[in-house]
Amino acid sequence: MTEILPITENSLKRAKTLILKGETVAFPTETVYGLGANAYNTVAVNKIFEVKGRPNDNPLIVHVHKDFDISALVAEVPDYAKILAKKFLPGPLTMVYKSKGTVSPAVSCGLDTLAVRIPSHEGAQKFLKYLDLPIAAPSANISKHISPTSAEHVLADLDGKIDLILDGGVCTGGIESTVLDCTGEIPVVLRSGLISKEMVQETVGACGEYVYREGGVARSPGMRYKHYAPTCRTEMFEPDEYKNALALYDAELEKGVKVCILCDGDGKELIGDRKFIFLGSTPKEMAANLYAKLREGEKTSELLIVISPKERGGVMAGVMNRLTKACGKRYES
Ligand code: TXA
Ligand code: MG
Repeated sequence: MTEILPITENSLKRAKTLILKGETVAFPTETVYGLGANAYNTVAVNKIFEVKGRPNDNPLIVHVHKDFDISALVAEVPDYAKILAKKFLPGPLTMVYKSKGTVSPAVSCGLDTLAVRIPSHEGAQKFLKYLDLPIAAPSANISKHISPTSAEHVLADLDGKIDLILDGGVCTGGIESTVLDCTGEIPVVLRSGLISKEMVQETVGACGEYVYREGGVARSPGMRYKHYAPTCRTEMFEPDEYKNALALYDAELEKGVKVCILCDGDGKELIGDRKFIFLGSTPKEMAANLYAKLREGEKTSELLIVISPKERGGVMAGVMNRLTKACGKRYES
């Protein structure tokens, strides 16, 4: 049985008992819910991979509280990383450093680097502080399914597979943290998120972006996989393909397929009385709503037609990355 408890002294005590026993515990962050385990304990870390059905070559992020001394975990922190950490942490930015090798090698799947994140969510900070341990945690969903932004989402995926979900309400960020490689001369975005490439560039003058090409060596191994995918069929259309999208909707409906359109505000009048789910107006709103809306979409339809928003830069880079991956497409820009 999986328990959902609000974050209190009692539930934290329970979480600590479980973590020290080598079990996993789900906890909230400002981006998505995480499935945490003691990063020093290989058996515990392996349990994360088992519970999620995660491929064992996709490394995990270590989460620590804001006063944790990360020099216990990583070997080199370049000056630009210090500046970025000062500006954006605690917050939705994960930084990859050369590892000291003090946590279990299972965390980074044998890589010599370690991804470190200091979440800003009050509940996450309480949990991490209470344990005072580095907590390895991926998103608390079944591997390749949509990431969870509420305790209910975690339960829907992991009911019976874990003992405890700490409930910290709905995640306000909505998409996973930006992953930034801080092992080179300049920082490089490995996964886009709410801290945009532009924001990093403005702060330290330069920022690269890594684009994975099929068949190549992935610097962020998670990029290889189809992700964030609804269990129903999805089709994605560009904003100027509205007519084709609506034609598909009508044709499928005619066949008796339950169809639904996921869209932003533009073109709403074209939809008429067809069934739709509204993603949001601003990039931040869309990021915050994205996973809950995808979950709503897979529940209510057999075919989810996604109209991609027009905008592409800043936070939208992160939203577009998730949307295209959810639709099984490779993300190229
Ligand atoms: O917002 C988030 O980051 C959430 C919450 C729970 O903190 N966590 C999360 O974890 O999204 P996960 O496991 O779903 O995604 C981790 C990503 C993967 O793309 C993985 O390949 C990359 O980070 N990663 C982890 N360690 C890495 C490393 N040493 N080098 C390069 N990429 C790494
Ligand atoms: Mg994930």
